[in-house]
Amino acid sequence: MPFQITVDCEVNGERIIRTLPATMLLSEFLRQELGLTGTKLGCNKGSCGACTVLLDGKPVNSCLIFMPQVHKHTVVTIEGLGKEGELTDLQKAFIEEGAVQCGFCTPGMVIVSEFLLRKNPCPTEEEIRDGIAGNLCRCTGYTKIIRAIQKAAKCRAEH
Ligand code: FES
Ligand code: FES
Repeated sequence: MPFQITVDCEVNGERIIRTLPATMLLSEFLRQELGLTGTKLGCNKGSCGACTVLLDGKPVNSCLIFMPQVHKHTVVTIEGLGKEGELTDLQKAFIEEGAVQCGFCTPGMVIVSEFLLRKNPCPTEEEIRDGIAGNLCRCTGYTKIIRAIQKAAKCRAEH
């Protein structure tokens, strides 16, 4: 039986205490233990960004984080970004700008974009490209994603 550890963490505002195999990845924990399947698994080796979540407010590839690293830390997934049942302005902008095609990259893209806009509310196109550089999209050619991020930034600036 694999070595077990008890992890005490917060996920999307809820305190969670679980005893788990020490080798369990955060991506597995979110999807299999908590049923938070909005976090996608692409490459499973830190190259595609599909599994991105916020760990203490910073984007990480959850396929590279072992659960002991999450002990006493805070995780936010795509399910926890908006108020319950509501999309954020950024999520709405992704839909309105056609930045969601197959949707597989979208949760990770939205998470890194949210991080970017919190840090830099008026990013240039180059800064947006840099901000999403670790996240791959096979469908959109990135133009619509960039437009969606610019739209959300503009809305936030106006409010
Ligand atoms: S699935 Fe984690 S980076 Fe690709
Ligand atoms: S929308 Fe399909 S991978 Fe980005």
